Amino acid sequence: MEHPLTWPVGLDALAFGGDYNPEQWPEEVWQQDVRLMREAGVTMVSVGIFSWALLETERGSYEFGWLDRLLDLLHENGIRVDLGTPTVVPPAWFYREHPEALPVSKDGLRYEFGGRGAICHSSPAYQEAAAGITEQLGLRYGSHPAVALWHVHNEYGVPVSACYCETSAAHFRRWLADRYQTLAELNSAWGTTFWGQQYNRWDDIRPPRTTPTAGNPAQQLDWARFTNDAILANFKRERDVLHRLSPGVPVTTNFMTALSQCESLDYWAWGREVDIVSNDHYLVAEAPRNHINLAMSADLTRSVAGGKPWLLLEHSTGAVNWQPRNLIKQPGELARNSLAHVARGSDGAMFFQWRASRFGAEKFHSAMLPHAGTDSRIWREVVALGADLGSLSAVRGSRVKADAAILWDWQSWWAQKLEWRPSEDLDARERADAWYAAAFDRHLTVDFAHPEADLSGYPLVLVPALYLMTEAASLNLQEYVAQGGTLAVSYFSGIVDEHDTVQPGPHPGALRDVLGLTVEEFAPLRAGETVRLTGGGAELTGDVWSEFVVPRGAEPVWTYADGPAAGHPAVTRHTLGDGTAWYVSSRLHGADLDTVLARACADAGLAERELPRDVELVERVGERGRYLFAINHGSAGVQIPLPGAGVELITGQPVGDRLDLPANSTRVVSI
Ligand code: GLA
Repeated sequence: MEHPLTWPVGLDALAFGGDYNPEQWPEEVWQQDVRLMREAGVTMVSVGIFSWALLETERGSYEFGWLDRLLDLLHENGIRVDLGTPTVVPPAWFYREHPEALPVSKDGLRYEFGGRGAICHSSPAYQEAAAGITEQLGLRYGSHPAVALWHVHNEYGVPVSACYCETSAAHFRRWLADRYQTLAELNSAWGTTFWGQQYNRWDDIRPPRTTPTAGNPAQQLDWARFTNDAILANFKRERDVLHRLSPGVPVTTNFMTALSQCESLDYWAWGREVDIVSNDHYLVAEAPRNHINLAMSADLTRSVAGGKPWLLLEHSTGAVNWQPRNLIKQPGELARNSLAHVARGSDGAMFFQWRASRFGAEKFHSAMLPHAGTDSRIWREVVALGADLGSLSAVRGSRVKADAAILWDWQSWWAQKLEWRPSEDLDARERADAWYAAAFDRHLTVDFAHPEADLSGYPLVLVPALYLMTEAASLNLQEYVAQGGTLAVSYFSGIVDEHDTVQPGPHPGALRDVLGLTVEEFAPLRAGETVRLTGGGAELTGDVWSEFVVPRGAEPVWTYADGPAAGHPAVTRHTLGDGTAWYVSSRLHGADLDTVLARACADAGLAERELPRDVELVERVGERGRYLFAINHGSAGVQIPLPGAGVELITGQPVGDRLDLPANSTRVVSI
């Protein structure tokens, strides 16, 4: 490829394979593994992710023989390697030497060795040892012909992100000194005049450990930022070693952008530091329509990658083993899940893991090669998927076409989740999910965008949950609307600045001008209470939240017919410059939220799509053509219109302007 750091070296197909942990098996099994990998069409595997204890058996004693043999075997068989740095599990000998590198919880408990990811990211001993094993791997395999990609660590941020030990406390103080320079600045940003929390010496500042009552919110928010930065610094240290010793081989680390799976990292910042964005996604098995969360995670990952293709490094062939009830995938669901990630920009579909383990904590997790062996439904579906992906090579490098953007900011989410908000039912994540699902059900493909990003390419921008907004974000949205954009904002957005300090003047400080209104008083609802919203051609029902909206230029479209805010506008529309800004001040669901969204779409000039509800339609556009991914999640076959004739790539059949989409199937039409 012409851009060496944007794609695994030497991989000339979509990535297909999984985490391969051959150290759990005798070497005779490896031969069978590679034979079956070839049968399934595997193109790349991730190896060595948890192998530190086997590679460095005591400090400075290295045993690379098995990995040499493994990489050679994979290379001889044409399987590319995503080589892990095993720094997510330091060996037992490391903790014997450095028990202080085990992380400490918020209430002072020191975690033990015996699981994984027990790391204090501020520990100099950990940092040195991690850089050391990475250096050894870089020296030995930096130019090994099998190595296509470096996989640093594993899922940074879980299972433990913050460490509250004294080393971390000192590191936090250095981070704060860098951020604020003076204690006066820090005291002002943290609002320490409240409850007498003034600091006169840097040494008095601690991590936000368990306090008798609500802790200082600005301190907690900075702690979350510090934790993200401390972990990111450790990624960068390993990445830089690999860039030095393995030039030309891209470096990634597997994210978990699904908002339920990792909360502690600001992936906007991480996306800028990796060569290739990669992601892991696991369905919430029991959730109805769980493919919507999959789509959301894929869209968020692509957005973190700045729209460039990304890589799905892990998902599952069937059940996982860590949810309360680990449901299997229905026939065909495996392919639909994998291809839905590809539809939304992943240039591959990889799994955890290749061969199901016989021992250890994850022995009941599904795999590409299950305990049942090759005479199994899962294996047959895996082989079929390998063939499908083989026929889709042409989509590599193409880009997803989005209709709209949703603003998302991890820092705002961290802030909103802190204690003592006006209602415990305010839930940023829930609103992001609900608005994303509403857009999904209108068959809109959305990008996610940082609130300060350039939004000018989007006719519609949705803001489901943006409690914290900087001045730059506020000006960005004003400019976006004034220039002709359509904005739709949900309640409890634009309330505080980056220090969790309420914006001056009436709420919502950062959005008053663009929305053309103020909020005189919040009026949260009782558990289970609903309010009626009338006007706008249809009666709507809200719950959780209402407020005294005072229009200042905005036109009321729906009004509260009852509840504490009766008589006040509930949904408003404001014209500003060439654009329009909608405000939704109560929690709407399903069809009601869709009713309002439909109005915003009309303002944005986005036409309705006549498609069955369970059909997902996403377009990727590349230099060689347009690829329309149509996924039918429903149990009945349907026919959908196409924008032109073309070839269906999975079946190889020509298609006209209508496409037959059997139940539970995926089709990819090259137009
Ligand atoms: C994560 C990890 C894997 C494995 C899977 C199981 O994504 O990266 O090592 O534990 O979960 O679902």
